[in-house]
Amino acid sequence: MKYGYFDDSRREYVITTPKTPYPWINYLGMEGFFSLISNTAGGYSFYKDARLRRITRYRYNNVPIDMGGRYFYIKDGDTVWNPGWSPVKTELDSYECRHGMGYTIITGKKNGLKAEATFFVPQGYDGEVQQLVLTNESSAAKSFSLFSFAEWCLWDAQDDSNNFQRNFSTGRVEVVGSTIYHKTEYRDRRDHFAFYTVNTDIDGYDTDRDSFIGLYNGFGDPQAVLAGEANNSFADGWAPIASHFKKITLAPGESKTLVFILGYVEMPADQKFEADGKTINKTKALAMIEKYNTPEKVAAGMAELRAAWDKLLGILNVETPNDKVDRMVNIWNQYQCMVTFNLSRSASYFESGIGRGMGFRDSNQDILGFVHQIPDRAKERIIDIASTQFPDGGCYHQYQPLTKKGNADIGGDFSDDPLWLILSVSAYIKETGDWSILDEMVPYDNDMSKAQTMLEHLKVSFYHIVDNLGPHKLPLAMRADWNDCINLSCYSDTPGESFQTYTNPKFAAEGGYSKVAESVMVATLFTYTGPNYVAILKHLGKDDEAKAAQDAIDAMKKAIMDSAWDGDWFLRAYDANGEKMGSKECEEGKIFIEPQGFAIMSDVGKEQGADVKTLAAIDERLNTKFGLVLNNPAYSKYYIQYGEISTYPGGYKENAGIFTHNNAWIICAAAYAGQGDLAFKYYSEIAPAFTEETSDIHKTEPYVYGQMIGGKDAGSDIGRPGKNFGQGKNSWLTGTAAWNMVAISQYILGIMPDFDGLKVDPSIPAEWDGFTAVRKFRGAIYNITIKNPDHVCKGVKTLTVDGKAVAGNVIPVLGAGEHTVEVVLG
Ligand code: GLC
Ligand code: GLC
Repeated sequence: MKYGYFDDSRREYVITTPKTPYPWINYLGMEGFFSLISNTAGGYSFYKDARLRRITRYRYNNVPIDMGGRYFYIKDGDTVWNPGWSPVKTELDSYECRHGMGYTIITGKKNGLKAEATFFVPQGYDGEVQQLVLTNESSAAKSFSLFSFAEWCLWDAQDDSNNFQRNFSTGRVEVVGSTIYHKTEYRDRRDHFAFYTVNTDIDGYDTDRDSFIGLYNGFGDPQAVLAGEANNSFADGWAPIASHFKKITLAPGESKTLVFILGYVEMPADQKFEADGKTINKTKALAMIEKYNTPEKVAAGMAELRAAWDKLLGILNVETPNDKVDRMVNIWNQYQCMVTFNLSRSASYFESGIGRGMGFRDSNQDILGFVHQIPDRAKERIIDIASTQFPDGGCYHQYQPLTKKGNADIGGDFSDDPLWLILSVSAYIKETGDWSILDEMVPYDNDMSKAQTMLEHLKVSFYHIVDNLGPHKLPLAMRADWNDCINLSCYSDTPGESFQTYTNPKFAAEGGYSKVAESVMVATLFTYTGPNYVAILKHLGKDDEAKAAQDAIDAMKKAIMDSAWDGDWFLRAYDANGEKMGSKECEEGKIFIEPQGFAIMSDVGKEQGADVKTLAAIDERLNTKFGLVLNNPAYSKYYIQYGEISTYPGGYKENAGIFTHNNAWIICAAAYAGQGDLAFKYYSEIAPAFTEETSDIHKTEPYVYGQMIGGKDAGSDIGRPGKNFGQGKNSWLTGTAAWNMVAISQYILGIMPDFDGLKVDPSIPAEWDGFTAVRKFRGAIYNITIKNPDHVCKGVKTLTVDGKAVAGNVIPVLGAGEHTVEVVLG
């Protein structure tokens, strides 16, 4: 069942009922000011850091869900309603929400009155602009009351949600004309305030929550709105809010447009106040308000925003026989990659904005998804990440975006982390041809006195793996590898211990983690990423170092085939007892997804047919109609030697959930192995546009990936296997976005930046006649046509560029201008 439709020409998803199976959200803002907005206008805003600079309040895990946001209340006679249906929940005569690229338009109609609200954050602007167009579509004049509403957060979202003994006594506001200023703590230690304004005179206001809502009422029946009158309340402690009250009369057919702005202002410490030393100096705020205080200025701001997205989405465009593929590649997957660039894993409807910082592995992988859109910012991000590495190649697992410093509470020793840096740096060079990134001086542990070149960082990354091998010459698993929930040195039996940071004291003597437990996943990730490092060394003429690195890769491949090939697929790990994990011999968890794709893509055991066997085993044991589960069978009890993975009921998260992130690795691997039909099957099982038809099961947004979908074992724990099978969770902020962008654009459609040019090597469904693509790459525009007359999946028979035949499948770097590329498969 669907709850809306894609409007590709406007790059929007149009939601046609407010009662979606979960709040379906969008993001506004891409620089400093950010907002989350649901299809009923729920959500919140923050400046740069969702924890430390939260502007409006939001209550996670609320009942009912998604209460709190920017709301317009309309009181028309006895009927009170919101254009977005919630929170009053009066049935509307019509409702529509359009989530677009950086904006959302919500339109509701009731009793002949239409209210269309457009929300966006203009380019280079620290505020959310809300334009409300009210139209009387009835044949009689209409008089009604309008109330706006926003609830201030007292800046630090964590403190705001628990320090009530203090916070109920700190709230402060100022009201001047139609602008309500929020200035809690501004008098003392903060140099920032927020405001909520409207471009018209008002008939009243409220700034004290309890006066507006009423202590025993809720967002759905605010006392002031029911009474049809504002209180002109003034917050002094308790909970400051901002609500404008305006009486409006419209003749039949008449429209009125109001522009509201929710803004954020930072002031130099010596200019914070007017001469009296207490009143906010509003020069900056007034200039901001001036910038968008008319519908014409709003239209110009929207046009600028659209132009920015045209540019970001103009680098890769495809036209395939499948419009779902086109809308994922051209619009939504790229959009989601930009959102993960902006937000990392901080703020979504599943990430509370007060949790984790930026992940070393997550952020490196995210680069793969957006490097073509914003190469300069990708470079800066890579340098930030690499700066948190240790001199021995280990890495802080997370860092804080405001300080950019490694997070000591979590520390390091996640065995996969260093390898992702090799991948992101390679992706950057392949996209841009900018080899100079290797010469950048990059600190270790944020200490510039310890800076080395980026190339040196890659070297220590590579050798961090080589220098930390276990008994089978496979990489040590350490605290965890990509799978945060396989914790082989944890042995935790005490509630509250973090599986990621707790290490059992029995491993203290060994240096903090088992020197026996080994990760096959890291071994295959090493053989997959390592060749990039070799290619870089060769490019630099460092042939001896290149050979040494290649030898290490070959040795790893041998170790994998000697000790980690289980006959039909690759093992997952050896645990701290030296026992196999992810083997036929295991009772549960016989096969895992993570090592398989990278093994196939680095040709491990290819001569023995390991790739074909592995893909067959995956299809048989892991595949479902909603995607590939992470492991099978699910663990049905707690295995202390494995850690967090077995704490989840079967079918969820890392315990046999469909982790869409690593589904992409199998999609890539199937495409790499020439099985384009299989790759496409897996792609279409999880790609959001394809799940749209089953939105009632999938629940989360049909335009973006979530981290996880309930696996076939979901519900097995309560004797109802299949209960939540297919149910999506943790939408938006996930490495799935980047990896599926790679899977579809580089492996299936096969347009893959390489060190020496743009490689074109599609692996598509055999039934496709071909497709076309426009790719901007290193200053040139390539108009690519792929023809598939013989209906094969893979194999470039001929490649011509501007009419001239080119050997192989790499378009050389041609510099500026437009070029016609024709590829015939066969
Ligand atoms: C989460 C984490 C990611 C990890 C994955 C698997 O998505 O953000 O770092 O690799 O879970 O545990
Ligand atoms: C939990 C999640 C995992 C995530 C980790 C770190 O273990 O299951 O997906 O990566 O927390 O935040």
